Amino acid sequence: MITKSSVHIKKEWDIVGARQMGRELAKDLGFGTVDQARITTAISELARNIYLYAGSGQIMFEIVEDLNKKGLKIIAVDKGPGIQDVSKVMEDGFSTSGGLGAGLPGVKRLMDYFDIDSAPDKGTVITTIKWVR
Ligand SMILES: Nc1ncnc2c1ncn2[C@@H]1O[C@H](COP(=O)(O)OP(=O)(O)OP(=O)(O)O)[C@@H](O)[C@H]1O
Ligand SMILES: [Mg+2]
Repeated sequence: MITKSSVHIKKEWDIVGARQMGRELAKDLGFGTVDQARITTAISELARNIYLYAGSGQIMFEIVEDLNKKGLKIIAVDKGPGIQDVSKVMEDGFSTSGGLGAGLPGVKRLMDYFDIDSAPDKGTVITTIKWVR
């Protein structure tokens, strides 16, 4: 079984490719349809942010297995402008683009684990995990 894969995000259409790969992996791992939808929504938000704010980047997938649980880790990586104030972007409604500002808080709610590592001018790495239950 392939345990690592990734999709390059460069054009808007790549967001669809990332969603499809995520859904496929989630299905194979045994997630139900509701969790598959949560996962693909989270991927869309992360990939769209890469496309909009960084221009390009990657959505990486990793199957994580431990003795009593397994899950899907999704890592969104870019070398864009980074996020100035990480706590601010996690507030509902904060947007620098006139968007709803619901993307990142939404991803945090949809997934079981969520972490942002970002520095101005270095880029952003967002790591999320969903566990199969
Ligand atoms: N990969 C990224 N690189 C740089 N800045 C980012 C990145 N992702 C998010 N941001 C910043 O965080 C803000 C909040 O992101 P979030 O996805 O929550 O909302 P939004 O994209 O503005 O609106 P929505 O996703 O609801 O359409 C963005 O407006 C942007 O300033
Ligand atoms: Mg967004």
